[in-house]
Amino acid sequence: MGWTGNLMPLLLPVLVALMAQVPLSEEGDLIVSMNSRAVKAIVNTDVLLECRVSGYTKQIDLKNVGVQWFFQELGSPDMTKREVYQFTGGKHTPYRKGATIFDDELKKGIASLFLPNVQFAEEGDYTCIVFITPDSGSGKSSMAVSATPQVSVSSNAITIENGTEKSVKCDIVGFYPVTIEMNWIQKTKDKEQIISKHICTGSPVENDDGTYNVSSRLRLRPTLQDSGTVYICYVQHRSLSKALKLTTQLTVKEPEVVVPVGIIFASVIVSILMCLVILGVGFYAYLKYLRKVPPKVSDISKPPRIIHLQEALLNCQISGYRPENISVHWSLQRKWEDKPNEIYQWTYTTQNPTADDQQKLISINGSQFDEQGGSFKFEMPVVKHNNDGSSSVHCKVMLLPDIHKDDGATLQVQVQHSTLAKPIIKKIMLKVEGIEPRMTDIVIPPHIIHEEVLAVTCPINGFKPRPLAITWYKQKNGITKEIVKLEPGKTEFIDGRETEQPKYAHSITELEYEDNTYSVTSILLFIPTICEDHDAGYVCEVKHPATNSSLCKEVNLNIKAIPKCDDIKLTPEAPIVDERACASCRIYSFFPKDIKVIWKKDGIILEVMNADTEAVLGKDGLYYFTSRLKFTPVREDFGKMLTCEFQHKSITESRKTACELAPLVSPPLVKYIKSIPEFPMIGEEATIVCYAHGFFPKETMFMWFKNDERTDDPGIISTDPQKDEETGLFYRESQWKLLIKPEYHLMEFKVEVLHFPTSHRPSRSSFILRLRGLSEMPLSEIKCNPTQPETK
Ligand SMILES: *[C@@H]1O[C@H](CO)[C@@H](O)[C@H](O)[C@H]1NC(C)=O
Ligand SMILES: *[C@@H]1O[C@H](CO)[C@@H](O)[C@H](O)[C@H]1NC(C)=O
Ligand SMILES: *[C@@H]1O[C@H](CO)[C@@H](O)[C@H](O)[C@H]1NC(C)=O
Ligand SMILES: *[C@@H]1O[C@H](CO)[C@@H](O)[C@H](O)[C@H]1NC(C)=O
Ligand SMILES: *[C@@H]1O[C@H](CO)[C@@H](O)[C@H](O)[C@H]1NC(C)=O
Repeated sequence: MGWTGNLMPLLLPVLVALMAQVPLSEEGDLIVSMNSRAVKAIVNTDVLLECRVSGYTKQIDLKNVGVQWFFQELGSPDMTKREVYQFTGGKHTPYRKGATIFDDELKKGIASLFLPNVQFAEEGDYTCIVFITPDSGSGKSSMAVSATPQVSVSSNAITIENGTEKSVKCDIVGFYPVTIEMNWIQKTKDKEQIISKHICTGSPVENDDGTYNVSSRLRLRPTLQDSGTVYICYVQHRSLSKALKLTTQLTVKEPEVVVPVGIIFASVIVSILMCLVILGVGFYAYLKYLRKVPPKVSDISKPPRIIHLQEALLNCQISGYRPENISVHWSLQRKWEDKPNEIYQWTYTTQNPTADDQQKLISINGSQFDEQGGSFKFEMPVVKHNNDGSSSVHCKVMLLPDIHKDDGATLQVQVQHSTLAKPIIKKIMLKVEGIEPRMTDIVIPPHIIHEEVLAVTCPINGFKPRPLAITWYKQKNGITKEIVKLEPGKTEFIDGRETEQPKYAHSITELEYEDNTYSVTSILLFIPTICEDHDAGYVCEVKHPATNSSLCKEVNLNIKAIPKCDDIKLTPEAPIVDERACASCRIYSFFPKDIKVIWKKDGIILEVMNADTEAVLGKDGLYYFTSRLKFTPVREDFGKMLTCEFQHKSITESRKTACELAPLVSPPLVKYIKSIPEFPMIGEEATIVCYAHGFFPKETMFMWFKNDERTDDPGIISTDPQKDEETGLFYRESQWKLLIKPEYHLMEFKVEVLHFPTSHRPSRSSFILRLRGLSEMPLSEIKCNPTQPETK
């Protein structure tokens, strides 16, 4: 039981007292009863979680009572258990806002927990632990927090015409948790059945308060027999004790038919009508054919905006005129013209004006006057005969305006009719607009490198008509300079064009789209340098005369220069083993200043340095730096690679220069000097052998000394230096064959291996020859001391 641990510090005195008396069982000795089944709570309401200790009839002294309430989310492990309430030593500590245990109840053994305003997150298991000295007990119950759905149907009675379709919607709002059962049920006289077709149920959507909404639509296309059917939106949810059912009653009616008012009356009325007709004909004929009415002419209507090369429809309505003969003339006056020119005319005549509509011969004459690159297209008007014998005409003009020709032009319609002394004239002025350009941010590569060709791209989109003026400026240190100017009708100006090599090159690419809009990219090409262009602003300014718009974009250049480097220089050129040497690596022409230099020997880092303080700024605005590594090579370094690696912002990967530690001047080591056999006898031949190794270069000389006296005995033979392929160093042996004489006993034989590059540190080794039988002295070791050069 996890909680026992938590309780230890808190109830320690109580527990100690208890342990002394009775062993505690895990369940405890008190019988604690709680809500027998899960508490069903509605969100934002108050809840009382029961916890009663049975068998306490008289008042309990609160000093002897301890209570703890724990909460744990459903199905989560015990560790996540959280304390909600604590009561000890007569003190209440609620860990959840507003949680309460009432003292009066507690005295009766009731430790029920009052939780006001419960939330969804409080759903889970609750443990109540009660201590009444000397006993304890615990119980567990759970609480579910829900929100009740509000259900509504779009209407509770629906009427549908036979053969048509309508739908009913059921909205279920504000429920929690999201699991919900929802069905549509069809209820006829004899049966109820769940509907499975023609239902469209959405996915639940979550509200801000954590509750959900869902709605479902049922499509109905009933026949007359379906009339009277009831449709039920059925909802079952955890928060409901009983399912909710909302109903809609369906009524199907026959489509309304236009039926004569009444057949009985019809015959009576027909005769009356007959009389009226006969009477009326005269007057009617006058109205229809004789009385002349002048036409009404509407203003020419146009769309709110007329856009360059975008079709627009102009309308004009001529209505209510009599007789039918009419003529319409359209004329246009462009900005630069001093009088209107007729562009279209249309005449409508009836040649034989009798009362018989059908036999009328009609002559319609419409003609469009040829106009080069015409922007106007006239549709042949259609004459409509009204009931009252008058006529109407609807004139339509399709316009594909060209801003250059048609902006500011005046279009005029002239209507001539026999009733008019003067024609009716209507005019409009056409204002043709362009579409102004849009600019997106100037495009530059992510890394701009010193002295590498750079393209700065300025994208301009979606404008019409052409042309466009583009100007590039450069701003540096508060000075603005025009570098490229491209103006309609003028040749391109580029800064420095006069000088031999202009710094800038400019190019334009243009695309025309189906809707006659254009996209232009203006590309400025140049080779940037730190001095001239770092931190400089480049501005692309665009002016579109057609829309009188001017806009610009700016970009700031952040230039980096990639470090260059020389080969590593070693001082001395061939370093000597065990002596200080210096490697230097010159890194130059970089920007910005920060650079990290890593020295490595065969991949193992020796030293890391930053150039911060030592880097020097050159006149060209670039930094210069020489990195020096002091090191003492050892024999094992022979042939290893020494690398100088550097990391800089201008490069993503580090770069390096390397040199091989070969030649590495390495003085010889004498491995041994000994006699074979070890203790020769007088008169016997013996060989004294000296073996030297680990040197480079190979030029060496063995010098033999006998009792400190240099000898050049012909018996001395030295092998040629041999290369040890593994280390790259040389080894060599020298032998002196000699006939043993008695005076050789206890004589010192010494060899000096002379190595020219390290002649200041000759290698010496010696040993004392002992002859067999002559030696009464204790045997001493062969003396060989090759590693430490002796000081002279
Ligand atoms: C209802 O309309 C359908 C076609 O829309 C038709 O076939 C059917 O006869 C009609 N029913 C009645 C009872 O009029
Ligand atoms: C849920 O329904 C209520 C009541 O119709 C509405 O106010 C609320 O906006 C809906 N919530 C969502 C997320 O659509
Ligand atoms: C209409 O025009 C036609 C042909 O020009 C002419 O014959 C006719 O008389 C005219 N009708 C009227 C009512 O003016
Ligand atoms: C249309 O009118 C023009 C002159 O306005 C005339 O030359 C032409 O013959 C007429 N066409 C018809 C079909 O009446
Ligand atoms: C263009 O705009 C400027 C200022 O916004 C205005 O002074 C000028 O008259 C305009 N020109 C045209 C042709 O609309």
